[in-house]
Amino acid sequence: MANTDSSSISFTAYYTGATWYQHGLSLKAFDTTQGNILYFLAKPFEKTSQLLAGMSVQTTLLQRHLIIDYVVKKAIKEQGITQIVEIACGLSPRGVRFCQEFPDIHYIEADLPAMLAHKQQLLAEHGLLSERHRVVAINILEQETDDALPVVFAKALDPTRKTLVITEGLINYFDLATISIFWRNLANALKQFPQGAYVTDLYPNFAWHPVTKWINTFVQGLSIATKSHVSLHFNSHAAIESGFTQLGFKQTLVHIPEAYYHSLAIPTQRSPSLVRVVENWV
Ligand SMILES: C[S@@+](CC[C@H](N)C(=O)[O-])C[C@H]1O[C@@H](n2cnc3c(N)ncnc32)[C@H](O)[C@@H]1O
Repeated sequence: MANTDSSSISFTAYYTGATWYQHGLSLKAFDTTQGNILYFLAKPFEKTSQLLAGMSVQTTLLQRHLIIDYVVKKAIKEQGITQIVEIACGLSPRGVRFCQEFPDIHYIEADLPAMLAHKQQLLAEHGLLSERHRVVAINILEQETDDALPVVFAKALDPTRKTLVITEGLINYFDLATISIFWRNLANALKQFPQGAYVTDLYPNFAWHPVTKWINTFVQGLSIATKSHVSLHFNSHAAIESGFTQLGFKQTLVHIPEAYYHSLAIPTQRSPSLVRVVENWV
């Protein structure tokens, strides 16, 4: 049987959580000691990569976070989405922020059981859970257990609501064959709602990128640190679009950070951007 324990990835949520907090995007509730230690340990590496490669991990993290926010808000306002599931939520502040900003939104945060237990504790301690803002355990690698996607959706979601699923900082920890099983299951699951959407960040495999060598070294290091198969998916925008179509999504839009340099308050970088935000509708 395939190994479905990917909890060795979970510590990275403390690093990204600290990034949201340090850049004013998060709440005191998610300011953790683990996150601060990782954030300050990474600083010299960040400075070096900014100097040598003209970009940093922080820049791509902030780009993806703010573009996902923009795309999801647009889907709420223009398409009437009222139910959001953030899978691999980690310490993302989005659930709290969106529930405050949009009174009709029901927000479900989902992650592996141990990570989720910590998130639940932090939310509960700060009085941030409600009937509209809940948490549920999920494991995207499971097919039949209580944490499998179809089981979780059946028990935790309202099938009458227009529903949007977010993943951020998750999919590149898995090879394409593995993550494609999740994507196909998700496309199927989303078809049961009156409208279904999926928004994710994605780091493509762009061989033309001027700092490919640096990226490959980073990918190898991250694979070792997280005991996972960090992989870059698809080698062009056309490949991203046809990949998601083959998995059962009807419409796919690829968002590139450069297109938002003048309209969103996102950090820019000297080198071409690395991250994409992919918006799928079923
Ligand atoms: C880099 S963190 C991203 C956290 C958050 N989305 C963010 O951007 O700050 C990766 C997250 O993936 C979660 N994760 C790892 N394997 C998973 C799985 N099989 N199913 C669901 N979540 C998983 C981890 O627990 C962790 O919270």
